Amino acid sequence: MAVRTVLKMGDPRLLERARAVDRFDLSELHALLADMHDTMQALNGAGLAAPQLGVGLQVVIFGVDHNPRYPDAEAVPHTVLINPTLTPLGDEMEEGWEGCLSVPGLRGVVPRYARLRYRGYDQHGSVIDRSAEGFHARVVQHECDHLIGVLYPMRIRDFSHFGYTEVLFPDSAPIDE
Ligand code: NI
Repeated sequence: MAVRTVLKMGDPRLLERARAVDRFDLSELHALLADMHDTMQALNGAGLAAPQLGVGLQVVIFGVDHNPRYPDAEAVPHTVLINPTLTPLGDEMEEGWEGCLSVPGLRGVVPRYARLRYRGYDQHGSVIDRSAEGFHARVVQHECDHLIGVLYPMRIRDFSHFGYTEVLFPDSAPIDE
């Protein structure tokens, strides 16, 4: 499989709504996921959505191993999530730093729901139904935003917390999503 080019902010394909996947376990879907995994790994991302590769399908992947270089980044289970639906659990919002492989070199503080339930399917069509909080919930919201054409800068409320990664975090930057 292959590392593919990630579309950057400004490309109109990143602003489109993705289509639902209607058949699972097809070779095309497995090939797409293999490319997504390779690309995310090569770029050290916490997640990636199919529209970032120019594929307008409701497919996201995410996952973070515990990394001593990022002691504040909680581990997130490695997940393939297709046709997701998100339900906030309560109204509480949390601010946190985000970056995006489609917005390279920048970081911003984004409000997200602190807790949510997410449902969808894996690549074989098996149901995924989980509750998440903290960084896990943040990553899910960031990735699923890509499926409705939303990039994290569009969620920023306070642009005094938006800037270049090497200026904001000269030593160790938060992981990209
Ligand atoms: Ni992103």
